[in-house]
Amino acid sequence: MVHDNPHPLHGQAALVTGGSSGIGAATAYALGAAGAAVGVNYRSHPEGAQRIVENIRESGSKAIPLEADVSNETEVQAMPDAFIGEFGRIDILVANSGIQQDAPFSDMTLDQWQRVINVNLTGQFLCAREAVRRFLKQGVAPSVSRARGKIICLYSVHEVVLWAGHINYAASKGGIMLMMKSLAQEVAEHGIRVNGNAPGAIKTSINREAWSTSAAERKLLELIPYGRVGEPEDVAKAAVWLASDASDYVVGTTIFVDGGMALYPGFRENG
Ligand code: BGC
Repeated sequence: MVHDNPHPLHGQAALVTGGSSGIGAATAYALGAAGAAVGVNYRSHPEGAQRIVENIRESGSKAIPLEADVSNETEVQAMPDAFIGEFGRIDILVANSGIQQDAPFSDMTLDQWQRVINVNLTGQFLCAREAVRRFLKQGVAPSVSRARGKIICLYSVHEVVLWAGHINYAASKGGIMLMMKSLAQEVAEHGIRVNGNAPGAIKTSINREAWSTSAAERKLLELIPYGRVGEPEDVAKAAVWLASDASDYVVGTTIFVDGGMALYPGFRENG
């Protein structure tokens, strides 16, 4: 008989980028509640990061805020030093930071293109590379996890769902998917598990316009077969599972947490 372990991440240390709000904040909190010590990375909202840190501490786990711009190589390289200085090792990276800068394609500026690619795609590359380097150095700790380290690339259904008007964003998410899978293939032999967590429409500030009025929400629900807009906690629970040994044989897979959004719901009564 299998018993649920309420603290599957006990003894592990997890770094969450973009942890001061939305999905990142919920994930940082859920990892802490599952027993991990958590580094809550932020770039521009120290008060949000501090609030999550305090919530995690109240739940009984250790937590610290960590300032860094994920698209800045020097800042990303410095972040694990502060993290490992505090917690001794790193077991889990949740690379979550992401932004949207929407525009019709013919109006999209190079700056809008580059900012989105820099944060969403290059940011995941820099953070994952740093995590892999640290995992390789520190070795396996069998008393806490079978894997040497776990990386969860948190991105979007737009790794596969095309999105007019958001071409920089969709390109960044498709890029993360191929980076995640190729990286999983490359580092699995070292005991490092890399997976993806792809949320659909989740109630956060990034898409507030799409769900905050009932007319907008009704329209959005046409894209969601399961009939509700997601909550950050829906995504956080999947991230905890991907970080834990319960998913130890899951390597290089994307878990869609999207109420069925990626199932081409437009074909339900059509085609
Ligand atoms: C975007 C949201 C959008 C959702 C579903 C996410 O990746 O950031 O703005 O609502 O995908 O389209």
